[in-house]
Amino acid sequence: MKVDVLLGLQWGDEGKGKIVDVLTPDYDIVARFQGGPNAGHTLEFNNKKFILNTIPSGIFREGATNVIGNGVIIDPHILVNKEIKSLGTEADVRSSLIISKKAHLIIPSHKLLDFIYESHKRDQKIGSTLKGIGPTYTDKVARIGLRIGDIFNPDFAQRYQQLKEAHMRIANSYLIDYKDVKFDGMNFDEYEANWFNAVNELKNFRFENTEYYLNHALNNGKNILAEGAQGALLDIDFGSYPFVTSSNTTTAGVCSGLGIAPSKIDKVFGIFKAYCTRVGSGPFPTELFDKTGTKMQTIGNEFGSTTGRSRRCGWLDLPLLKYSSMLNGVTDLIMMKADVLNDFDEILVCNKYKVNNILTDETPFDLNEPIEAQYLKIKGWNSEIKSNHVPKELKNYMELIENETRLPISVLSYGPDRKATQILKPW
Ligand code: GDP
Ligand code: IMO
Ligand code: MG
Repeated sequence: MKVDVLLGLQWGDEGKGKIVDVLTPDYDIVARFQGGPNAGHTLEFNNKKFILNTIPSGIFREGATNVIGNGVIIDPHILVNKEIKSLGTEADVRSSLIISKKAHLIIPSHKLLDFIYESHKRDQKIGSTLKGIGPTYTDKVARIGLRIGDIFNPDFAQRYQQLKEAHMRIANSYLIDYKDVKFDGMNFDEYEANWFNAVNELKNFRFENTEYYLNHALNNGKNILAEGAQGALLDIDFGSYPFVTSSNTTTAGVCSGLGIAPSKIDKVFGIFKAYCTRVGSGPFPTELFDKTGTKMQTIGNEFGSTTGRSRRCGWLDLPLLKYSSMLNGVTDLIMMKADVLNDFDEILVCNKYKVNNILTDETPFDLNEPIEAQYLKIKGWNSEIKSNHVPKELKNYMELIENETRLPISVLSYGPDRKATQILKPW
C-alpha cells in the first residue's frame, strides 16, 4: 500500500538498525536499498546484541520479509560466512530473505583496489571501511560490473576472471603485490576460495527481480519500510564530498535502489543522534577535541560497529540537520541516544555558521571551507530518562530542534535496547 523510509540524517551510525527493528511489527516487508557491508546496524534485545551489514534489520521479527534491493552491493563472503553465521538460530534467513538478482557483486579484487586507492591518498584518505564499496559502484556505473544474478550463468567463472584480470592490471600499475595484502586476516587466494564457497552457498537462497516483488506487494496492500544505510552527509551527491560513500543515501536512492516510484513513498523518518559523530576523515564543523568530546565518546560507546574505529564526537549541528531533512523530505524526526547526554550540565547546539564573516544557516559548497560554528547554550537535564518520563530540559531541547527544523520528533530513543524507546507522537 505504501512505502515508508527510515534513513540517517548525519554521518551514519545514528541507530537505524535499532529503530527499524522497533518499527518492523508495523510492516510486512523491510528492504535495504543502497550501500553494502560498509554498514553496521546494531540491534539489542533479550540481552543479546547483533550487528547486520547487508541483511535488513527486520530479520528478527517473525512474519516480516526482508529484501536486499538492486541498489545494494553484496560481498558473498561477508554475507554468508560472517553475517548469516553470526545469527545462528535467532533468525530464519533462508525463508525470510529475498535478494535482488540485480544487486552488484563485490569481488575480492574490488577490496584489493579499495585498499590500493586508499593507501595512495596519503593525507586525503577518506577513511573507507575497505569493503570494496567505491570500486564496486565504480564498475557498476562503468558498465563492467557483475550482478549477483550472474552467478547462475554458465559463463560466470569466465566473466569473474575477466573482471579480476582488469583489476589486477590496475593493481600492478601501482606496483602492489596482491599477495602481501590481507583481507579479513586472509591472503588474497584464501579469501577468494572462501568467497567462491560463499557464492555456491548463496545459490540456495531466494533470488528475484525484487522490483516486481515489491510492487506486487504494494498492489496487494502490503506495507514496506525502506532501510537506509550510512547517512545523508555521506551521500555521493550531497555529502561532504569527497569524504563520502559511493551511493545515494537519501530518499532518492529508495526509488532507484528498489524500483519503487516516488509517488509510492509516504512517511520519511529521519533519524539523528542528540549530538553528532563521524567515523573516518572529512569535515565536521561541530567536532569537539576536548574532554567533553571524550566524555560523549565514552558514554555513547562511540566505536564503529563494522571496523571498531573510534568515532569523532561533537555537538548537534542544526544547519546540517535542516539540510538533510530538506534533501530527504523528512516527515518525522527520530532522536537517538539522548541518554548519552544525561550527565551534562550544559548542552550546546550549533544553530548557525559563520563563513567568511557572514552568518548563515545554509551549508556551503565545500564543508572543508573554514566554518565557525555558532552555538546556543542549553541547560542539561542531569537526570535519567524513563519509559514514561521526559525531563523538562530535554523537552526544551527537543522543542528547540522541532522549531528550527519545523518537524515533529516522533520517537525518542534512550538506550540501545529495543525497549528503551518512547513513541511521542504517533503518525
Ligand atoms: P546504525 O548504523 O545507524 O544502525 O547505528 P550503529 O548500530 O552503527 O550505532 C549505533 C550504536 O548506538 C549501537 O551501538 C546501538 O546499540 C547504540 N544505540 C542505539 N540507540 C541508542 C540509544 O538511544 N542510546 C544509547 N546509549 N545507545 C544506542
Ligand atoms: P551505517 O549504515 C558510518 C564512512 C566511512 C568512510 C566513508 C566511506 O552503519 O551507518 P566506504 O567504505 O563507504 O568507502 O567509506 O563513509 N561510512 C560510514 N560511517 N556508518 C556507516 O554505515 C558508514 N559506511 C561508510 O567511515 O568515512
Ligand atoms: Mg553503523
